[in-house]
Amino acid sequence: MDDLHPAARHAGADTVPTATAVSAVRDAGARIGANIEQVIEGKHQAVLMGLAVLLAEGHLLIEDVPGVGKTKYAKALARSIDCSVRRIQFTPDLLPSDITGVSVYNSEDRDFEFKPGPVFANIVVGDEINRASPKTQAALLECMEERQVTVDGVTYRLEAPFMVLATQNPVDMEGTYPLPEAQRDRFTARISMGYPDRNAEIAMLSEHAALDPLETLRPVSDATEIRSLIGAVRRVYVSEAIKAYAVDLAEATRRASEIRLGASPRATLQLLRAAKAWAALGGREYVIPDDLQYLISPVMGHRLLLTAEAHVAGRTTGDILGRIAQVTPIPAEAAAAATHGTR
Ligand SMILES: Nc1ncnc2c1ncn2[C@@H]1O[C@H](COP(=O)(O)OP(=O)(O)O)[C@@H](O)[C@H]1O
Ligand SMILES: [Mg+2]
Repeated sequence: MDDLHPAARHAGADTVPTATAVSAVRDAGARIGANIEQVIEGKHQAVLMGLAVLLAEGHLLIEDVPGVGKTKYAKALARSIDCSVRRIQFTPDLLPSDITGVSVYNSEDRDFEFKPGPVFANIVVGDEINRASPKTQAALLECMEERQVTVDGVTYRLEAPFMVLATQNPVDMEGTYPLPEAQRDRFTARISMGYPDRNAEIAMLSEHAALDPLETLRPVSDATEIRSLIGAVRRVYVSEAIKAYAVDLAEATRRASEIRLGASPRATLQLLRAAKAWAALGGREYVIPDDLQYLISPVMGHRLLLTAEAHVAGRTTGDILGRIAQVTPIPAEAAAAATHGTR
């Protein structure tokens, strides 16, 4: 083994973020995370995951039972960053144009004028997304993928950063239109909030009983800073061995006997992007196998379909992905770079 930093061995070493750029990501992540945690008790990992998705230029699906702070979390993240924020409450009668906007005829100018919909914002909170019709869901998901909106043949670009935080109740709850697989695949990660632990719930009761802390939450970052952090994350180094490992993990989901639909190449790509953000949030300029192992479940879990037998046996995507992460051999070079890099 030579003594070079794994990043420096790479031909394009000058494009690798400097230690300073990466510590800026780590510090901003800590600052924004702490701000959100003034409002959301006991959900440190969920909070970090949301920030990773934001910096990976992705979108986050928050799926859980009612009353565990999904909406609150989405609002707290949006409020922590000084940028344009819109919230869309999904309902069965919401139309695609209620999301994208419409062009209306202006009789004075004798011309059509575009009235942008709520998707034109840096952070879009899509609340209870599974209450809207598939057509309306599709309108949002298209904007997420393309980062642009086309209305009446004219295309409008969405500003960066652009992140959708969508919340939904579990699919077995009444009156919902579950997102089809192809649409779930558009979300970089899915998290569930989970019940707070006992102490966190007690803290919530004392701190939230009188006044909603969300009301006084102040932004601690802005769109300009987030864009620069995204730039640093993009330059996080990924070795060939790490790429091979990501593909090995994806292939393992495709081969697993309990899985009927495995990870798509889009999922593999998003796993790597998320891993870069995760590495930077940890103050590291390069991805290590641990990043992929940690993220495989939140990034791939919502995209997979289990076989009927696996369902009957009570298996979850989390268990199966955890097992895949455990048994898939780490390419020797990737493992070496990791221990080498941690010094
Ligand atoms: N972990 C938590 N930390 C702080 N408040 C919480 C937490 N979980 C739930 N709450 C409180 O419960 C209430 C419901 O939260 P909300 O975000 O509307 O839930 P959901 O969108 O999941 O149905 C809010 O008033 C929120 O303050
Ligand atoms: Mg809610």
